Amino acid sequence: MEDAQIVVPVDRTVAAARPLAANLAVKPAAGPTAVLMQVRNLNVWYETGQALHDVSYDLKRGEILSFIGPSGCGKTTALKCLNRMLDAVPSIRIEGLIRMEGKDIYSPDIDPPEYRQRFGWVAQMPNPFAETIYENVAWGARIHGLMRDQAELDAHVETCLRRADLWDEVKDILHATDGTALSGGQQQRLCIARALGTNPKVLLMDEPTGSVDPIAARQIEDLMMALRGTLTILVITHSMMGARRIADRVAVFHLGRLVEVGETEQVFSAPVSIEARNFVNGLVG
Ligand SMILES: Nc1ncnc2c1ncn2[C@@H]1O[C@H](COP(=O)(O)OP(=O)(O)O)[C@@H](O)[C@H]1O
Ligand SMILES: [Mg+2]
Repeated sequence: MEDAQIVVPVDRTVAAARPLAANLAVKPAAGPTAVLMQVRNLNVWYETGQALHDVSYDLKRGEILSFIGPSGCGKTTALKCLNRMLDAVPSIRIEGLIRMEGKDIYSPDIDPPEYRQRFGWVAQMPNPFAETIYENVAWGARIHGLMRDQAELDAHVETCLRRADLWDEVKDILHATDGTALSGGQQQRLCIARALGTNPKVLLMDEPTGSVDPIAARQIEDLMMALRGTLTILVITHSMMGARRIADRVAVFHLGRLVEVGETEQVFSAPVSIEARNFVNGLVG
């Protein structure tokens, strides 16, 4: 079973104190199962011009990979390529190779709706439906017909809310309260629970803590760390501190190019490229 091959990232609080060679020594051996998605020479043009230039990186199973970089440098575009969210944008041109589990995601036998089901999407602004908490979380499983009966759906909703660290706060008001009536931080955790509803392999998160207060942001970061391992997370992070705390690896974008990707501590403490150095030192952005 594929989940048995999940790469459990090392505990950085321990690993960070070791020299880099020792960190590498405790990583699982690199192999085809460690890589969930491969992106090679990705170029994207909108009607207005080129947004991504020759972007290449791997997304590893079970990791948190964080995209950082100044506003407008192509992070959201790069994220939306992965689940084919940009297919419907008029006049867009996408070139390059994206593979999931070794298979080209634009291969003719890939069914886009089925393919998108492998991803959960979490936006910066919490955007629950104006429906009950229960219906928000049940939505994905309902539209994809994932559960056989009401009891299974109830159990699934509970599991998703527990994974999103929201169950204890809402278990008595599931059918009585709309998702939109919750606090900002709760709404965002509800959106995470909703995103988990289709049993995705990957969570794509576009600045998920960008519009909540610092305590709520910390709670969301904690739950992302709890989810990693069973799930792969690609997150655009506006907060350098947040990225440094939660990400296993970091990719730095600059003017539509991925200028550096590496282990979080290495990128923050000893960035190789001048663009990454300037960004992590707060000189741009
Ligand atoms: N739907 C779109 N149509 C035209 N241009 C777009 C669209 N989305 C983004 N862009 C442009 O692509 C570039 C990268 O944007 P984006 O991926 O949103 O960057 P970031 O997330 O790093 O802020 C920007 O110049 C932006 O104006
Ligand atoms: Mg963006």
